[in-house]
Amino acid sequence: MELYERITEKIDAESISMHVPGHKNNTIGHLSNLDWSYDMTEIEGLDDLHDPVEVLSRLNVNIAEKYKGYKAQLMVNGTTNGIISAIYALSRTHHHFIVVRGAHKSVYHALDLAGSTFQEIDRSVVCMTEFHPGEVVIITYPTYNGECFNIEGMIDHIHSYGSLVLTDEAHGAHLDIAESFPSSSMKFASDIAIQSYHKMLPALTMSSVIFVRDETLYERIMKYINYFETSSPSYLLLLSMEQAHEFYLNYTSGEFFGKRKILIEAMESKGIEVKEQDDPAKLLLNYNGMSPFMLHASFTDLHIYPEMVTDEGVLFCLPLFHQGDSYPFSLLIERIQKMEFKGRELEPVDGQVDILKGRICVKSIVPYPPGVPLVHENEVITGSHLKSIKHYLHNHVRIEGIKYNLQYYNNEGDQ
Ligand SMILES: Cc1ncc(COP(=O)(O)O)c(C=O)c1O
Repeated sequence: MELYERITEKIDAESISMHVPGHKNNTIGHLSNLDWSYDMTEIEGLDDLHDPVEVLSRLNVNIAEKYKGYKAQLMVNGTTNGIISAIYALSRTHHHFIVVRGAHKSVYHALDLAGSTFQEIDRSVVCMTEFHPGEVVIITYPTYNGECFNIEGMIDHIHSYGSLVLTDEAHGAHLDIAESFPSSSMKFASDIAIQSYHKMLPALTMSSVIFVRDETLYERIMKYINYFETSSPSYLLLLSMEQAHEFYLNYTSGEFFGKRKILIEAMESKGIEVKEQDDPAKLLLNYNGMSPFMLHASFTDLHIYPEMVTDEGVLFCLPLFHQGDSYPFSLLIERIQKMEFKGRELEPVDGQVDILKGRICVKSIVPYPPGVPLVHENEVITGSHLKSIKHYLHNHVRIEGIKYNLQYYNNEGDQ
């Protein structure tokens, strides 16, 4: 039972979560109200997730009330499922997609599946770009790092051309939870928004909600949710979204901002540079003269697990602290006080990857996390791509697709 041993090792070491899911090892929120015996299926009285008319329909309606003018649908296969279903449905009526750079791999998977044409643009040019009524613009908001930009201006601009906006709000289920938290794109009439409840709210992993403004579009997307999603939804996940919604409605942020301040001060007193993001639940950390990858290792040595590390820094997803939570906050502060910052050996990277230079990428190359493709399938792998790939490999970052590309070109003679 190796997986069981791996997980229990982490629990036994009193691992501290600064990563998703938002329940932080069941120390935030009220998931302990649930019991394994609640893992039921769509029996009499428990409705049908893909054609909800009763209890699940009412839950959808309650959750939709978060934002005026939307219909909502709970999903158990993550935001990935919502993105794929929505893009697939839209591809039937919209001829072209515009993807704002930095999008998650699921966006590209959906476009590939739908056989749709797309173009990538930088966020900085959205409000200067002319769109067309047959287009859909896909924006990741907030970003993984917790940046929130002028989404209102972007949506207004895109709508003025009659184009649609799909916002990937995977990292934004907690937006508007209290004052000082940024607003969702749904405050500004995004046509479709998809939120991972599991990432920032205390819900079980894979719990997501799709919100759609137009009723006809909602029905069309529902058709594909039904195609792509499991027909055996976990009621534990659905219950966890009900719990998370209740948590969201009753949340007060006093505890959160109090502990956040103590945490920032503790890190700063160790010389860690703390960059507060627009989303107060995200912090980006650096340490003078040390690569973020080394800083990341200094945290994990003490069993503090961040969400992600990139060249920009180490990312903490803060718990939504609340009265009565059981998050090990004192232990976290104690461990930070003991932190030591040591350089580490870089992972040696042999020259093997050099054979990829100038080759056509046969499977997208995706550093994970964040899951944003570095090289798309069918694109040429350039010297600059290889430089980034080696840099990531040196720093122990997982890269999906590398092994497949290497195997493909190593075996080329056999093909
Ligand atoms: C920006 C973004 N969109 C979508 C997803 C997919 O969300 P889920 O894990 O809920 O399928 C992720 C996952 O990390 C993400 O970072």
